[in-house]
Amino acid sequence: MNVRNFSIIAHVDHGKSTLADRILERLGAMGERDKRDQTLDTLELERERGITIKSTPIRLVYRRENGEEYVFNLIDTPGHVDFNYEVSRSLAACEGVLLLVDASQGVEAQTIVNAYLAIDNNLEIIPVINKIDLPAADPEGAAKELEEVIGIPADGAVFASGKSGIGIPEILEAVVERIPAPPGDPQAPLKALIFDSFYDAYQGVILLVRVLEGTLKPKDEIRLMNAGKNFEVDKVGTFSPALVVGDSLPAGAVGWVAAGIKDIHDAQVGDTLTGSDNPTTEPFPGFKPAQPVVFSGLYPTDTEDYRKLRDALEKLKLNDAAFSFEPETSEALGFGFRCGFLGLLHAEIIQERLEREYDLDLIATAPAVVYRVTLTNGEIFETQNPAEFPTRDRITSVEEPYIKLSIMLPEDYVGPVMQLLQERRGSMITMNYMGKRVELLYEVPFGEILYDFHDRLKSISRGYASMDYEQIGYREGDLRKVDIMVNNEVIDALAVIVHETKTYSLGRKIVDKMAEVIPRQMFPVPVQAVIGAKIIARATVKAFRKDVLAKCYGGDISRKKKLLDKQKKGRARMKQFGTVEVPQEAFLAVLSTE
Ligand code: GTP
Repeated sequence: MNVRNFSIIAHVDHGKSTLADRILERLGAMGERDKRDQTLDTLELERERGITIKSTPIRLVYRRENGEEYVFNLIDTPGHVDFNYEVSRSLAACEGVLLLVDASQGVEAQTIVNAYLAIDNNLEIIPVINKIDLPAADPEGAAKELEEVIGIPADGAVFASGKSGIGIPEILEAVVERIPAPPGDPQAPLKALIFDSFYDAYQGVILLVRVLEGTLKPKDEIRLMNAGKNFEVDKVGTFSPALVVGDSLPAGAVGWVAAGIKDIHDAQVGDTLTGSDNPTTEPFPGFKPAQPVVFSGLYPTDTEDYRKLRDALEKLKLNDAAFSFEPETSEALGFGFRCGFLGLLHAEIIQERLEREYDLDLIATAPAVVYRVTLTNGEIFETQNPAEFPTRDRITSVEEPYIKLSIMLPEDYVGPVMQLLQERRGSMITMNYMGKRVELLYEVPFGEILYDFHDRLKSISRGYASMDYEQIGYREGDLRKVDIMVNNEVIDALAVIVHETKTYSLGRKIVDKMAEVIPRQMFPVPVQAVIGAKIIARATVKAFRKDVLAKCYGGDISRKKKLLDKQKKGRARMKQFGTVEVPQEAFLAVLSTE
């Protein structure tokens, strides 16, 4: 059987899903895709947010005009920097990629990062200049940019539109002609790469694999090399795109395996699967265990919901090896959980699922990164919880995680963006001009981009700048803990870790925002930012609570009802401290854009 394994990579919104749908439709699999939605129980959120979270492969059959048949395994990849490791593993399962570039936007930060991931995996790259139906499209310009920036020859580009269907036949032919057939010997010792996994209530963990060598069959005794655990294969199969049970998966195949695995942490993305009797000598290189890097506290607004929250977190964790949680107690918020995520988007997705699918009302504390503190007694203490950050007299030094940040933008915005990066304590590595566009490479403390960085970047560049990043290790930094007091009491869950140069400005921003969002009381409520015993900023929630109904006396009842509903809804997300209610917004005051 002729096989081609490939993936589509692109910057967010350059039209990956639309093009994939068009290919599916052309190869007669559109109806099947809807079927999959019922069979596979795909994540509801994935569709709603328009962002691909899980890499779902689809097996398609392409018949050329001369009658030759090819099996296409189209492997989808998640389109966000939080999931870059998953993308790199999905690409490792392929021999080639379609690199999409929006003809009206040109090359963006993720175009470059994704192209390099493909190059690192030795993949054949077919450049596809997409959305050429748009009036603002400049297909030649975009192709030339790809050549200048990444060195992909412009004359190899296919011009296409996922919307109108232009270029689809050319893309299918290019896949056959230009992407190599998968190598591998079906008789060799088994070696397969896990590029995704999900949990099914009946089958246990389902592994999505690319078989590199050997043949995978039911009843095989298999070993997960990094996890160091053995299992017996129950079923194997392919995706049509619904899960279809098959006899075996030979070298070159992309498919799924069920082997009675109960814990998703035993089956991590990037691990190598081999035979326990006749194992391969070398696991597939580059395995990295999923590791959360951004942490936030999640607390039920209603303390009665604690168990419900714990059960929901356990369910989510079944399906997500990269998500972690452990119980934590806050003096202010009571019992909750400290949760770990791959990034801010991952955190948002989990919070939204908890609220929608599990009907929970949550207070989330501001996200934080992991700090490494050397204590005066020589001990090294790692913490991602500002509330636990040691007092200054106990600290010798603090280190914080850094990222290498790549930003693509039109040259007109370079000045203001460089200023933003400077505010965020960034230092420039290089700046590359590519025609009228510029790539800025910076080293920046990771913690500095957690707070409203992306929004600021978008707003000062009028939406034209795009970014991507990778972690590059720890550096020393002069960091302080700023506590927030409401009505003269410290609220531990509001503490933040800040660089020494920013304590005053951030303290001011937080107290001002809090004074704005805390409802008025019968008495004035002081809100203060403090370092140790020193007050660095102060604001006051003025007395007198405005009666929302006063505005519409005698007025129309539906409007009155609306206002009351609104007030009720607002109240659902509050925490009571003594007589003062603090709304969810206040906990994220540090995130707000000024
Ligand atoms: P993510 O999954 O978020 O990375 O997005 P994506 O790259 O899959 O993009 P998607 O296919 O969702 O398309 C993004 C937007 O571009 C949608 O509004 C599409 O309707 C539009 N779009 C996609 N392809 C074309 C095209 O060929 N022409 C035009 N005019 N619009 C397109």
